[in-house]
Amino acid sequence: MKRLNTGLAVLVAALAMSTATAQAQSGDATKGERVFATQCKACHTLERGGASVAGPNLYGIMARRSGTGQGYGYSEAMRRFAIEWNDQTMANYLRDPKGDMPGTKMVFAGVKRPDQLADLVAYLKEATR
Ligand code: HEC
Repeated sequence: MKRLNTGLAVLVAALAMSTATAQAQSGDATKGERVFATQCKACHTLERGGASVAGPNLYGIMARRSGTGQGYGYSEAMRRFAIEWNDQTMANYLRDPKGDMPGTKMVFAGVKRPDQLADLVAYLKEATR
């Protein structure tokens, strides 16, 4: 029980710290890795040649056109959307996938916290090139 309490205290401290920096706009890729691990990894791989699981492999995603990865069956909506992925389009989509791109088959509520979103995009840029 003592160990559990210590763990909780560390978690609470970490949460308090991340709230304090919530206004920072430039993303922190190290923190973004955690966001990816908890919210995206179940459905996406990032490395070159990685498998397309529920969602497409994301290697080389930045500056690519949406819905054009090889070997994955995208929704009509994603292919028609035909935007180039950059910081802004990525943040818009990941904040609210269905709102940004009606008809996308990515079942994900969205990353609502601006700091987490910025961290995530920073991490994606590093990890997919
Ligand atoms: C439940 C599974 C699931 C989760 C969780 C998920 N995705 Fe997806 N993702 C998908 C699917 C399915 C698609 C294909 C959507 C389509 O074709 O409409 C997709 C598409 C994408 C695309 C467009 C890829 C391309 O080639 O144009 C990006 C970028 C993306 N996801 C990033 C993320 C990120 C970052 C997260 C975490 C915040 C995430 N996804 C969470 C399933 C998921």
